[in-house]
Amino acid sequence: METSAKKTVIANWKMNPQTWAEAEQILDFVNDYLESRNEKEFSLVFCPPFVFLEEVGKILKTSHFEHEASLGAQDIFWEDSGADTGEVSGPMLSKLGVQYVIVGHSERRWKLGESDDVVNKKLKAVLRNEMIPVVCVGERVRDDSFKEVLKEQVEKTFAGLSHDELERCIIAYEPVWAISTNPNARPDTPESAIESIKIIRDFLTFNFQLSTFNFLYGGSVTSKNVADFIRQKEIDGVLVGGASVNKEEFVKILSLIK
Ligand code: 13P
Repeated sequence: METSAKKTVIANWKMNPQTWAEAEQILDFVNDYLESRNEKEFSLVFCPPFVFLEEVGKILKTSHFEHEASLGAQDIFWEDSGADTGEVSGPMLSKLGVQYVIVGHSERRWKLGESDDVVNKKLKAVLRNEMIPVVCVGERVRDDSFKEVLKEQVEKTFAGLSHDELERCIIAYEPVWAISTNPNARPDTPESAIESIKIIRDFLTFNFQLSTFNFLYGGSVTSKNVADFIRQKEIDGVLVGGASVNKEEFVKILSLIK
């Protein structure tokens, strides 16, 4: 979506915060900030853990969040119903007012062993249930093979989608080697992120004749680096992890989205 003026900011709370009281504090703080800012050059999505979804959804319908922020989930199961212990289905999420669903997050891919095939099935479940998939892709290491790794991951992740379905996806490029929870994390640069985004874009353009994209950057975004990434025309927004549950830091990030 290179032509869209509004940037997208997705707060991926991961398995945080520990209590609802803390979650409410974050939302109150962001709400106060939104009240103080007249022009919002971003659309906001909160992706809390499943246990907080319903309550966050209620808060987002009130006050300054109304029409400003949407509800997102961090995961989905690929079947719509069935005996699947521990899983949450697309219809369940959709009934709660969830509009966005993250699939293929690197923590699920690498810590929980989610394959491209599983991510592909989850992606299709999001589309089938008429929500917007936030599809995470990214190489684990930046070595000589990263371009091939990225292309293979993208090919398998988006396999079988139609052009129109692909157009509904938000693609979050997450270089796993830059994510803060990685003990060997090192900072990414806008140049390197754009190199990867172009590889993904060219691949999808060639294979799906896609010309409209919506790319988020998700490699450890903080108030220190957000301005550098967001000003790139190839980057339509950011997927913020750890910094999105630190209320002061998150508001600082929002203040830098121009
Ligand atoms: P951090 O922002 O915590 O480094 O994580 C990035 C990420 O995983 C976004 O979903």
